[in-house]
Parts: sequence; C-alpha cells; structure tokens
Amino acid sequence: MLKIDNVTKSFGGLMAVNDVSFQLDDTGITGLVGPNGSGKTTLFHLITGFYKLDRGQIHFKDKRISGLAPHVISRMGLVRTFQQTRVLPFLSALENLMAASPGQTGERLSSVFFQPGRVKLEENNNRERAMQILGLLKLKSLDQHLAGRLSFGQQKLLELGRVLMARPKMILLDEPTAGINPTLIRQLVDVIRKLARKGIQVFLIEHNMPLVAEICEKVFVMDSGSLIFSGTPSETRQNPRVIEAYLGREDYGA
Ligand SMILES: Nc1ncnc2c1ncn2[C@@H]1O[C@H](COP(=O)(O)OP(=O)(O)OP(=O)(O)O)[C@@H](O)[C@H]1O
Ligand SMILES: [Mg+2]
Repeated sequence: MLKIDNVTKSFGGLMAVNDVSFQLDDTGITGLVGPNGSGKTTLFHLITGFYKLDRGQIHFKDKRISGLAPHVISRMGLVRTFQQTRVLPFLSALENLMAASPGQTGERLSSVFFQPGRVKLEENNNRERAMQILGLLKLKSLDQHLAGRLSFGQQKLLELGRVLMARPKMILLDEPTAGINPTLIRQLVDVIRKLARKGIQVFLIEHNMPLVAEICEKVFVMDSGSLIFSGTPSETRQNPRVIEAYLGREDYGA
C-alpha cells in the first residue's frame, strides 16, 4: 500500500532522513520507533507532502505521491495527525468533526442559495457521521463541549476523529499516546484496533515500547535518519543494533 524508495531529506548539513526505503503491505498496525531526533516525524512530513523530498520516491496504492500537495494526498486516503494537537478550541467537539469533513457543498456560497436542499442533506449526513465517530471515540456525551475545554487526551482523540471524517485508507499517527492518562490510552488503543479491523491501516510513531509490542504487528526502527531494523516487536526488542541505538538515551525503555 505504501512504498518508500531512497527517501532523503536534509536540513542544512543535517541528514534528518537518509536514504530510507521500505514498504508497508497489508499490515493492520505498524510501528515506527527510534530515539529522539532520529527522523520519524520528518519521514511522516515527507510521506504526507508537508516537506519536499531531496531525493527518492513515495508511492501510495501504486500511485506516486511524492511531489503532491498535502490536501491531494489526504484526498487519496492517506491522512495524519500531528505531534502537536490541532483542534479548533472555540468549536464544540461535534463542530470540530463536522468542520473537518472534506469538500462540503455548503462551503460554496452559491450552493447555499441555489441548492439549499442538497446543502441541508449533506449537513445532516455530515452530522450523523460526526456523531458515529464521536461514538467510536467514546466522546458522544461531550459532543456539545468546547474542544478547548476537553482534556489533552480527549483533544487527541478528537483530532483522530477529525482525520477519520475524511474516510481514510491509511492513518499516520505521531505519538498518539504522549502526555495522555492511562485510561485514555486504553480508549485510544481500543479505537486504533477497531480502525484496523475496519480495514484502515495504521502507521504510528510511538515511544511507549510496551504499547508498540502490544498492538503492532510489525515495527520499523530509525536511528540518526536511517532505517536500521524492521521486524516483529519481539525481534525488535532483542536486536543488538536497536538496543545500541537506544543505549544511553533518556527515552530508552520508556
Ligand atoms: N524544520 C526543520 N528544520 C531544521 N531541522 C529540523 C527540522 N525538522 C526536524 N529537524 C531536525 O531533524 C532531525 C530529525 O527530527 P525529527 O523531528 O524528524 O525527529 P523525531 O524522530 O520525530 O524525534 P522525536 O522522537 O523527538 O519526535 C532532528 O535533528 C531535528 O532537529
Ligand atoms: Mg517526532
């Protein structure tokens, strides 16, 4: 589904991503791990079109996506969340999801005048879908709450909900559990597993190794911009190169 070939990105003299190649086939949930600064987030930016590649190619479902704009890539079904949460704080949870729905007729002023019925129908469908997603996230009871008033973990769930509005085929999650409490982590794990069962592929950056071992079928490991290993979670944890990459790092064993 996702194929990365010789992808390279540097910032000045720093090789943030250095000649990385790999392929994600039909694995349900895949992990991307590596010490701080190893290039994981940069790789996600490259895949989703937020950064331009210096070299290499990226294909999604056999179509070349490197060089395309982020909104074009997300319309193809490849979406992401950010390491920093991005919800609209002055809108309710429900409105946040409704506003995230791509390509609504009502966004064009002319349609509001000339096709009011269609706009209304779309809005109803949109609302229904947003409520379904709130249900999936177990946030239904908070539908009218302002997003800015939700806990940090709930905002992260809501952000995931926003990308789900686009009916993605693959979701990239950048440290989804960072800074959220254990109860919400369980809720999030539940959601991620449900998505995978629905056939949505999940590719996630995560520092919480026990969690990676629990939910990922396959793990890729980066260190200093390079891909140094891929395998099952237990192979990963026993691999000497992986252990060496983490040794002496603060996040080791986190
Ligand atoms: N926009 C940028 N300009 C300059 N340097 C950058 C930029 N983005 C990332 N870097 C550098 O590239 C390297 C890789 O950063 P990246 O954010 O991809 O790491 P990461 O693996 O996601 O780390 P973390 O686990 O801490 O989130 C780091 O040295 C970082 O300082
Ligand atoms: Mg990062």
